[in-house]
Amino acid sequence: MSPSASGRARSITEALESAARFLRETRGRSPRLDAELLLAHLLGCSRTQLYARGTDPLEPSLLLAFQELLERRKVGEPVAHLVGWKEFYGRRFAVSPHALIPRPETEFLVEAGLQLLERSAPIRPDILELCTGSGAVAVTLALEMPHAVVWATDLSEQALELARENVLAHRVQERVRLCHGDLFGAFSTPRRFDLILANPPYVGTERGPAPEEAVVRHEPAMALFAGPDGLEVVRRLVAEAPGWLVDGGNLVLEVAAGQIEGVEAMMQERGFRDTGLVCDLAGLPRVVLGRWEER
Ligand SMILES: C[S@@+](CC[C@H](N)C(=O)[O-])C[C@H]1O[C@@H](n2cnc3c(N)ncnc32)[C@H](O)[C@@H]1O
Repeated sequence: MSPSASGRARSITEALESAARFLRETRGRSPRLDAELLLAHLLGCSRTQLYARGTDPLEPSLLLAFQELLERRKVGEPVAHLVGWKEFYGRRFAVSPHALIPRPETEFLVEAGLQLLERSAPIRPDILELCTGSGAVAVTLALEMPHAVVWATDLSEQALELARENVLAHRVQERVRLCHGDLFGAFSTPRRFDLILANPPYVGTERGPAPEEAVVRHEPAMALFAGPDGLEVVRRLVAEAPGWLVDGGNLVLEVAAGQIEGVEAMMQERGFRDTGLVCDLAGLPRVVLGRWEER
């Protein structure tokens, strides 16, 4: 894409069409959407406003900046990193290379947790999100459940810094508590939670499908990989979770579709009751849940 050969300034519509063609050449999944997000970011407007302003000419300096972003996108840099945010559960969250970019499928983890809490109806639920990364899940839970207190932990200090930024941006600092540490090791004193949920790292270094090259290049290894079969973190989490749940509390985990039945069996073996699976938009089972009852 270049400024018009005729010397005439390009309009927003023309620039978007040519940008989408440019991104399509590299098997981009959503070239038009990506182009719109990048241009809207540069112009400081919404995607809808791009359409209203379709015939407006673009300044050459803006066209150049757009071209630079398109080049970076073309070699695999995520749109979220280029614009600095990602939408999750209808809200914007800051992103950084130190934490996983929140994925749409993780909204099912949130949804499952909210439904379980509505059913068990504790007055002031105590929720724990392990492996919080950007904090998108923890902040969403706090906003959707105004009486809940949400504890959120991560092993990465840099991910927690990003989570702090998101907690402050969404003004839930009174009810979201960030803790640093290895799973439950983040707590120095014992506690019990009504709900524990996590989207832990679950990619196997030797087994299971490998993530896309761009994901490995641009997102932290600590957020993705968990031992040869990808279940090192999940195994510890399922083993230890009962010691941190109230009687009747629930554990909800997001894992890969190919792991889910094994993780459900792991939970049943550990003594979780009424286990179940939740499917994502593609119809793949991605979330597994179960209830802990003291005998
Ligand atoms: C798949 S990402 C999930 C991020 C976020 N919850 C989301 O769903 O978008 C996993 C996160 O777990 C963290 N992590 C990895 N191993 C951990 C451990 N042993 N204890 C706590 N956090 C861990 C990583 O730093 C990363 O932020």
